[in-house]
Order: sequence, then C-alpha cells, then structure tokens
Amino acid sequence: MRKLDADRNAGSISIEGLTRRFGAVHAVDGVSLDIRAGEFLALLGPSGSGKTTILMSIAGFEYPDEGRILLGGEDITWLPPNRRNLGMVFQRYTLFPHMSVLENIAFPLKMRGLGRAEREERARAALRTVRLDQLGERRPAQLSGGQQQRVAIARAIVYRPRVLLMDEPLSALDKNLREEMQIEIKHLQREIGITVVFVTHDQTEALTMADRVAVLDHGRLQQLGAPRELYEAPQTEFVAGFIGETNFWSGSAAAAAAPGEAVGVRLEGSGVMPALAVSRVAAGDRVRLALRPERLRILPGAAEGVPALVTEAIYAGNATTLMLEAAGGQVLRLRIPAGAGLPEAVAGEAVTLGWQAADARAFGVAP
Ligand SMILES: Nc1ncnc2c1ncn2[C@@H]1O[C@H](COP(=O)(O)OP(=O)(O)O)[C@@H](O)[C@H]1O
Ligand SMILES: [Mg+2]
Repeated sequence: MRKLDADRNAGSISIEGLTRRFGAVHAVDGVSLDIRAGEFLALLGPSGSGKTTILMSIAGFEYPDEGRILLGGEDITWLPPNRRNLGMVFQRYTLFPHMSVLENIAFPLKMRGLGRAEREERARAALRTVRLDQLGERRPAQLSGGQQQRVAIARAIVYRPRVLLMDEPLSALDKNLREEMQIEIKHLQREIGITVVFVTHDQTEALTMADRVAVLDHGRLQQLGAPRELYEAPQTEFVAGFIGETNFWSGSAAAAAAPGEAVGVRLEGSGVMPALAVSRVAAGDRVRLALRPERLRILPGAAEGVPALVTEAIYAGNATTLMLEAAGGQVLRLRIPAGAGLPEAVAGEAVTLGWQAADARAFGVAP
C-alpha cells in the first residue's frame, strides 16, 4: 500500500522557499510551489521574472541560495542532474546534426547503458508517440522546425522520466504550428501521464495548455491557480494586468471592507461605483479598480453610472471594441460580443457606463 502511494507521488514536486541571487538580482525570491504528480503546470511571467532559473533548479543545473526542492517526497536539492531522471526540452532543438533521428532519440538510452535491441525498440516507440514513425532514418536538418521539436520531445521521454521540463519549447515556431503543437503536447502529456513543468511568457499558451499556472514577477510567485481563477479572480494588480485585458482606474474606498466583500469606490473624476475588495481596505484608502473590457456595460437612457464619450468604435466581426473617455480623462476600453443583443454605440456618442460589484476588483494600494 505504501509502495503504491510512493509510486503515485513519484512525479510530484515541492519547491520550498526557493531563492537564487545573481549579485544584486533576486532571480528567484522565496518561491514555494507544490506541483502534483501528473499535473501540467505552466510557469508564466515576463522576461527576467525567474522562470528559467526555477526550471534549472528543478533540473539541477542551478543550485539555490536558500530553500529546497523535493521530487516524489525526496530532497533532490543537491543531487546532480543525471541522477534526477527528468526529461528536458529547450527552446532550440539541440539535436545532434550528424546522427539520424532514431540515433538522436536512442542517445540517452546509450548513455544509460541499454543494449542495442532495447534502445532501438524504445526509440521507435517514442517516435511513434510523437507521430513521426516514418522519419527515423532522416537527419535533423531534413526535418521542419516542428518535426525537430517533436524529436526533441521523443528524446526527452524515451527513458520514461517522471517529469518533463520544457523551457519555451514552441517560441521558435510560427503561430499556426505553435497552436498545433500546444494541443499535441497536451494530448501527449495526458497519454503518458507525465508531470510537465512548462515555461512560457505567452499567457494564451499557458492558459490553453496548463492545469494550473504559476504567475511570476521579479522572482516572486504572484498567484498559483487554474486558468479560470487567474482570469476571473486575480489576487494582485500585476496578475490582473498581465492576464487578459484590464482597465485600471484609481480611486478611494468609500467604506471599510474585508477581502471578497462588496465596497463602493469613489473614482477619480467620477462618482462612487461598486467593486469587490481583494484585500482588506479602510474607508478613504487608496485603491486601484480593475475592470475587464467585456464586463463593462452601456446602460440605457437615464440610468445612474459613469458618463463617458465614445471616441472610437472598432468592429471586428466577433466583437466590437469601444474606446471611451470618462470624466476626469480616464480612458477605458469596452468590448461588446457580437450576437448577444447588448446595446452598442458609435463614435462621438455620449453614453453611461455601469457594472456589477462582481465585475470590478478593488486592489489596495500601498500607502
Ligand atoms: N547566470 C546568471 N548570471 C547573472 N544573472 C542571471 C543569470 N541567470 C539569470 N539571471 C538574471 O536573473 C533574472 C531571472 O532570469 P531568468 O530566470 O532567466 O528569467 P526568465 O526565464 O523568466 O526570463 C534576470 O534578471 C536575469 O538577468
Ligand atoms: Mg527564460
């Protein structure tokens, strides 16, 4: 029974208080993160936010200044890379140009001392998994970028690692191929039931592929959650701005509120509008309101709300985007999905805007 549990958790990763400094730069700053066995986890953040450093620490190519890393419950912080049994795929394909595709894939098995027949059999199976069965005899240069990346994936999974680490593996591919590969990698991950830690700076890629996403900024974990949680309930102003489109509007709390409670926000240049408090606020505290463009509504006639002028209306088939200027010079973006029967407006029109408390998030601003 105990053995079974151990196997089931073999691919889990716990990162505990990971810190890595380069001189004065905190590349990773006290990150704690539990990754479940069999989970697809994306590390998402802008360039320089510490994604690669975290991945390299899991792989064993970087050692932390503080904290530790557990794999399947075992402390691997100081274990050399070749004893961690992890697969890795990088942005560039890093295939050996003078070897055939099959030889490339079989290479890690050769390093591990497996016999020729078994190497060949396993390499062919891995090639089938990435759907390149027919191309085993070719050289890497005779393959497209997408095919080369598939070979790199096959080589990374051929020795059946518990975890596959991928650092921006699709960023060298063009958009169509990238989207195709996103779905393919996701299928592959489900099929072989492997834990994947996937680094990307592309939010769409992270939301499309991952079970959960860890959002990083300046080496700090901002939020860990399912794609829907991150979009609908961002916990920091950074996440609200980084994931999807957001209008920010400064104001002050009209009353005290606890996290998750509705609060009135006195908006700069405008009246009091409803929002949900993300953190605890006292009356008069500075806050920043985050509003998604598709949650803003144009209200009928004499309704109470925020007066604004439509400066531009951009029709894009599936939606119309309005650029608005509200009182006090606040610029807003509003999106009206097509076919929902929602009121529209044209450039030059004066409108009244409104939203529900649940559609606006108020972040406390450090004084
Ligand atoms: N070997 C290194 N020497 C000095 N600075 C480094 C080194 N590796 C990373 N950094 C710095 O640490 C920060 C995080 O880098 P990195 O983990 O590569 O971020 P990301 O992968 O999110 O772009 C950056 O400021 C980067 O310049
Ligand atoms: Mg990187």
